[in-house]
Amino acid sequence: MDLLTVDNLTVQYLSRRGCVTAVDRVSFALPRGQCFGLVGESGSGKSTIGAALMRLLPPNGRMRADGIVLDGEELTRLGEEEMRQRRWRKVSMVFQAAMNALNPVKRVEDQVMEAVRTHLPELGTPEAARQVRQWFARVGIPDNRRRDYPHQYSGGMRQRAVIAMALSCHPALVIADEPTTALDVIVQDQILSLLGSLRRARDMSILLISHDISVVADVCDRIGVLYAGRMVESGTRREVFEAPAHPYTRTLLAAHITLADRRGTPKTVSLPGPEEPGAAAGCCFRQRCPACQPICRQSPPWHWLSRTHGVRCHKGDRST
Ligand SMILES: Nc1ncnc2c1ncn2[C@@H]1O[C@H](COP(=O)(O)OP(=O)(O)O)[C@@H](O)[C@H]1O
Ligand SMILES: [Mg+2]
Repeated sequence: MDLLTVDNLTVQYLSRRGCVTAVDRVSFALPRGQCFGLVGESGSGKSTIGAALMRLLPPNGRMRADGIVLDGEELTRLGEEEMRQRRWRKVSMVFQAAMNALNPVKRVEDQVMEAVRTHLPELGTPEAARQVRQWFARVGIPDNRRRDYPHQYSGGMRQRAVIAMALSCHPALVIADEPTTALDVIVQDQILSLLGSLRRARDMSILLISHDISVVADVCDRIGVLYAGRMVESGTRREVFEAPAHPYTRTLLAAHITLADRRGTPKTVSLPGPEEPGAAAGCCFRQRCPACQPICRQSPPWHWLSRTHGVRCHKGDRST
């Protein structure tokens, strides 16, 4: 059973330059208890998808969707107040760079406590304090460090505290936006395995957002590849890694020399921004695609290659 299904989500930002379509008719499903990795380079719309699911877009953002069903409930039909009640309890988010946004003049424990008191007001103070202590233990912050200030923490510890905050209301879904990006390699692995073990222990589903395909390779059951606001391929980890069907997915995989040597320096791939002329018509990847053909001026349909593996490319399953 799917915990989350997203059907044709579109998000636009209004700016002085006009209207930017940051997310263009994106659909995917996240099975209960699994981890879905949303991968794509900077600017491809990953954080926007996270914010839209939380319904926390900036004021100039507009979203529409044919459906967003979370745990059997259609979120698009909910009013603001109903959505506010679902936030943190049903779906929470570890925002990109949140670990650097901790309040520098407040003790870390007090900040987690404040989050719990705000989102679970029905807990009395002693019970909230007990749960906060438990969360510090679960994310691996020693007891004697709870009362520290954020600057006394390492980056990894700050990220652990932010994860504790996001999980403190036992959400069914947690969206983790680039949770390891600012951290060194060893700490990255620690944070990813922490998320993995919390997922199993707490029976959560995770939407893991990363620009780094090797990060999602480690922990995700399913992977969705985003390019210029469009989902160009999605499938199980195995399908995407062993039989990548979209030329862009192959470019991403090739940039990571081998998975064994996954910490090699990735090449960056430049992309036409969503606002670039021509990006709206035809395949979003055609200007960079090594296999581009005249038909790619028309928007490619979504081809299902298996029940779980799909690709948005005219070549469909014949592209290998
Ligand atoms: N508040 C905003 N106003 C206007 N454009 C925005 C805003 N936030 C993001 N964008 C644009 O939307 C696109 C997707 O951004 P984002 O979701 O942050 O991508 P990612 O997380 O994949 O790096 C980018 O082109 C970005 O410039
Ligand atoms: Mg982002």
